[in-house]
Amino acid sequence: MKYDRINKELYIRNRSKFISQLEEGALAVFNSNDIYPISADSTMPFQQHRDILYLSGVDQEESILVLFPGSKNENHREVLFLRETNAHIAVWEGEKLDKQMAYETSGIKTVYWLEQFQSIFKQMMAEASTVYINTNEHLRANTEVETREDRFIKKLKIDYPAHQYRKSAPIMHRIRSAKEQEELELLQKACTITEAGFRRLLGFVQPGVWEYEIEAELAHEFLRNRSKGFAYTPIVASGKNACVLHYIENNKQCLDGDVILLDVGAEYANYASDLTRCVPVNGRFTARQKQVYNAVLNVKKEAEKLLVPGTILADYHKEVGNIMERQLLDLGLIDQTDIKNQKPEWPAYKKYFMHGTSHFLGLDTHDVGIWNEPIQAGMVFTCEPGIYIPEEGLGIRLEDDLVVQASGAPFNLMRNIPIEADEIESIMNSK
Ligand code: GLY
Ligand code: MN
Ligand code: MN
Repeated sequence: MKYDRINKELYIRNRSKFISQLEEGALAVFNSNDIYPISADSTMPFQQHRDILYLSGVDQEESILVLFPGSKNENHREVLFLRETNAHIAVWEGEKLDKQMAYETSGIKTVYWLEQFQSIFKQMMAEASTVYINTNEHLRANTEVETREDRFIKKLKIDYPAHQYRKSAPIMHRIRSAKEQEELELLQKACTITEAGFRRLLGFVQPGVWEYEIEAELAHEFLRNRSKGFAYTPIVASGKNACVLHYIENNKQCLDGDVILLDVGAEYANYASDLTRCVPVNGRFTARQKQVYNAVLNVKKEAEKLLVPGTILADYHKEVGNIMERQLLDLGLIDQTDIKNQKPEWPAYKKYFMHGTSHFLGLDTHDVGIWNEPIQAGMVFTCEPGIYIPEEGLGIRLEDDLVVQASGAPFNLMRNIPIEADEIESIMNSK
């Protein structure tokens, strides 16, 4: 791990929030992710499942966490099963958690090697009546891959058909969405690393630079600050590429007169930052580019004021649509006839702003949260309006990460990252 160790008190608190929601006599199981294969003996870099991480801090493959708060055996109220390590294994595979380190990381006293899982788990299941399983209920999850958790659940239901099964997901979505102070600090750190990357490229961008060269500058700055790298696949989209919402090729040359849309965020300690900024390739926006830029900035400034406790996200998205509609009218991109003829499910503004304004942010970039309950203090959201005009070869999106406060405006984790067009121009021209 490149990041500094996180205080285990965070995980102790996270677990207590989770277990307070369990039915009596229940246990819950959380598995690590697999290390995914490429081909031959190549593998993808490991990415821990965010739920076991959130509850234990264990950032290691082939780990299992079992929480059984009502167990008669005091030692079995919280248990970690880890892949065995010893001095010999460490020579080949590098440092893995031993039992003491696992305790120091997680605050969990009972740590077994994975070989003991079946026999110990059998004892625990004999005592439990209900099992919470960790299915992926993220609304946008869309994968054909069977995870380690999926395989575990399949076998569990065959081996233990008489137990009652419950879902951990709603509990996890709720508790993960309101952040602890330590988590806000980690998110801030991720945003601060992103800031360093953004400032670096303001002095680097010029006509003729390639999008992947900009990506490389960012990667360099992120890694030297103890980040693993990008929190999500970066978008470095110049000119009309910015109108392709999921443009990730980053393989074009940046031309004089174009604007580059950068949707790029560093991770830190598995926490994501999610930034979008738009910069002129030659250091100066044209009058039209600035007009569209400021329209998006106006929407963002209005929208973020709505991220206060009690807001319902569906109402918020509707209201942001109204704000955007006014800006698009001013820009002459839509007119009253478009609005008169619009369908309720596809308002006129969606021709130029076709995605959502905000999502939860945390250990996942599109973090888990309950979308139809009022938002609360401590929740973190992006705010990311955009206007995309393919016929003008121009796409502008501006995105910051915001913490909802108990009262007043949200706290902007990206408050130090230049966003005013004039400031961006002035930094770009100060080399
Ligand atoms: N970078 C992904 C998003 O903005 O949602
Ligand atoms: Mn983004
Ligand atoms: Mn985002």
